[in-house]
Amino acid sequence: MVKAGANSHPPPTQSGGQGETSTDQVKALAPGMADVWVTALATSQANLESLRRTLSVNELERAARFHFEEHRARYIVVHGCLRQLLSRYLSIPASSIEFELGTNGKPTLAGDAARSGLQFNLAHSADLSLTAVVTGSPVGVDVEQVRILSDANELVQRFFSKREAAEFASMPESQQPLGFFRLWTRKEAWLKATGEGIAHLLDKVEVSFSTAEAARLLSLPDGFPNLADWSLFNLEPGPGYIGALAIPRPDVKVRIQFWKDQPNALLV
Ligand SMILES: CC(C)(COP(=O)(O)OP(=O)(O)OC[C@H]1O[C@@H](n2cnc3c(N)ncnc32)[C@H](O)[C@@H]1OP(=O)(O)O)[C@@H](O)C(=O)NCCC(=O)NCCS
Repeated sequence: MVKAGANSHPPPTQSGGQGETSTDQVKALAPGMADVWVTALATSQANLESLRRTLSVNELERAARFHFEEHRARYIVVHGCLRQLLSRYLSIPASSIEFELGTNGKPTLAGDAARSGLQFNLAHSADLSLTAVVTGSPVGVDVEQVRILSDANELVQRFFSKREAAEFASMPESQQPLGFFRLWTRKEAWLKATGEGIAHLLDKVEVSFSTAEAARLLSLPDGFPNLADWSLFNLEPGPGYIGALAIPRPDVKVRIQFWKDQPNALLV
């Protein structure tokens, strides 16, 4: 089941489905709307080869550096699908899309495509990737496969705020795996929207993460815009996965869609 939700926002619309992507859906992205594309990464050898042919020299070099074939294939599918998807919004061939990297490594569109105002962010975990696409503002997305981490408590105590550490420690043990990844993905989505990454501000952005509360930013690091200017959404892109989406706009409508052409055993 694919779901999304956030505090004080209307429920996001959900459209598309496996094999149901139309160019009209892709093109009808207005400011204030966010598309989140769910891609299952398992694919055929033939599709893998066709995606590989769309990658840049830099991407092929990066792919070649993976030690395990499985990781290389995953990288090719993630980045090939990102190109396919963006090419539908930009109406240019997937292979001609150029990217540039921000100070902390956030990729954005470069060249002529940058003038379209289209912005995106990518996240992947295990067998699934999420691509968020918006116009006119930055965006950050994260996804994680929910799993038991033996050092979750230690990580929370060490890297998150005191308030979060106390709340996490008081959670019933059975709720901690989901609580941890809810906390993690919400923070990371915000840190990816700003392009900061997770190196410095993990304990300075505070988010809700209890079962009872909807996704909400509680405090931001010094020097960042007003809390009320942001929207934060909880994403449940498939069984066993949790994610989040952050956008510096107060009024956002989210559409969750499945990227076509990927055999999709995970999402029912
Ligand atoms: C970005 C970051 C949060 C990604 O974490 P992750 O959980 O490993 O990966 P995710 O699946 O969530 O996202 C990966 C994607 O995010 C995007 N990304 C990379 N850096 C990003 C940044 N600073 N902000 C937003 N998005 C970023 C890329 O598309 C990346 O995909 P790729 O690795 O396949 O090319 C983490 O790598 C980070 O904090 N990087 C910044 C490092 C830094 O601060 N460097 C400073 C110079 S030393």
